[in-house]
Amino acid sequence: MKVLLLENIHPVAKEKLESAGFEVDLLTHSPEPSEMDDLFSNYEVLGIRSKTKLTAEILNRNKHLKAIGCFCIGTNQVDLQAAKKIALSVFNAPHSNTRSVAELVIAEMVMLARQLGDRNTDAHQGRWNKSAKGANEIRGKKLGIIGYGHIGSQVSVLAESFGLDVSFYDTTKKLPLGNATAVESIEELLATSDFVTLHVPETSETQNMISSKELTLMKKGSYLINASRGTVVVIKDLVEALKSKHLGGAAVDVFPTEPASNKEEFYSALQNLENVILTPHIGGSTEEAQHSIGLEVSESLIRYIKSGSTAGSVNLPNVEAAPRDKMYRIVNIHKNVPGVLGKINGHISSTGANIEAQYLATDEEIGYLIIDVGGENLDQLSDEINNLDENILTRVLR
Ligand code: NAI
Repeated sequence: MKVLLLENIHPVAKEKLESAGFEVDLLTHSPEPSEMDDLFSNYEVLGIRSKTKLTAEILNRNKHLKAIGCFCIGTNQVDLQAAKKIALSVFNAPHSNTRSVAELVIAEMVMLARQLGDRNTDAHQGRWNKSAKGANEIRGKKLGIIGYGHIGSQVSVLAESFGLDVSFYDTTKKLPLGNATAVESIEELLATSDFVTLHVPETSETQNMISSKELTLMKKGSYLINASRGTVVVIKDLVEALKSKHLGGAAVDVFPTEPASNKEEFYSALQNLENVILTPHIGGSTEEAQHSIGLEVSESLIRYIKSGSTAGSVNLPNVEAAPRDKMYRIVNIHKNVPGVLGKINGHISSTGANIEAQYLATDEEIGYLIIDVGGENLDQLSDEINNLDENILTRVLR
């Protein structure tokens, strides 16, 4: 099986795929759309990052592709619906940079409490501004985390080892780690925390979640950190809260609109305010995160190709089925319509084969089915299933 990795994907991905027996070619750039068909015709698996846009047109002209690995967090660059229609599984690495974001947040708490951003600028510009006034340790302070998922819970663990008293608010019930405590309302969390850090996804509910109403509830002199999504905070309200000195400072890594590349200039109403740390969406941007993205996505691709497991696929129903020593396995993707399973199983039983294990996951459009069959008639069986009207793709794994 041949794999093409584009856009300078971390070398660990090539190593991992080659050690699993794949043939891997590398390109450092993203090809022009006009070059893609020729290039892709030699490969069955593609690895991309954010620059390679795989539109419905391109995917439909490259139906021979079996899987796409997005070696990044987002998958907006791929038409996922079009990929699903042609049974092309797409993988990403949504949590490989969790620790990197959590570490940045911890660093920012210390920076805000000691006004390090401003003192650093002073020193670089020749001002010796030595003072203890308004500078604090973070030990013993109260941290409020909004969104206690992968990142929020990591921040919780790290913050406790710094001696902070951690509470969190999440819309789903979460097990508190260490000595952290869950609070019942966002209002309670805002009113009691010295630091508030946001780790929620971008949804219609989290849009403008922190506006002047919530900022007013925050303790005077407290700090806000946003390394989640730019739309979660109303920037003009935050500017107000900072200018009026209601907040003691803020660290912001994400913005409602961000430059599309490093070549574009960056503007924000938060620029040049006192004790405000602005970073260019680098929360998850570390060498370690790139390494773990390389590993996570290549492992998902290997599992999918070798055992049919769709665990971690963003567009096919997720089925986890461990590889077997002696594997006679059929993987089938079908339209989710009444009676289709009966037809497939009917074909199997008519050959006299025994179904040793069967795994199925469905969404409203398709079903993803893995069948371990005892016997040798796999190719014939696969052809018969392939001929069903409801079939989208059937392949045999040995
Ligand atoms: P996650 O999905 O593991 O956790 C999100 C948590 O927020 C969940 O526990 C969920 O129940 C909770 N939540 C959802 N709506 C809520 C609401 N209205 N109020 C309170 N809690 C709510 O996500 P993860 O991986 O922890 O990421 C969190 C955020 O960090 C995302 O917005 C993600 O895009 C962002 N992120 C930013 C990076 C950066 O470079 N700055 C890098 C990686 C992620």
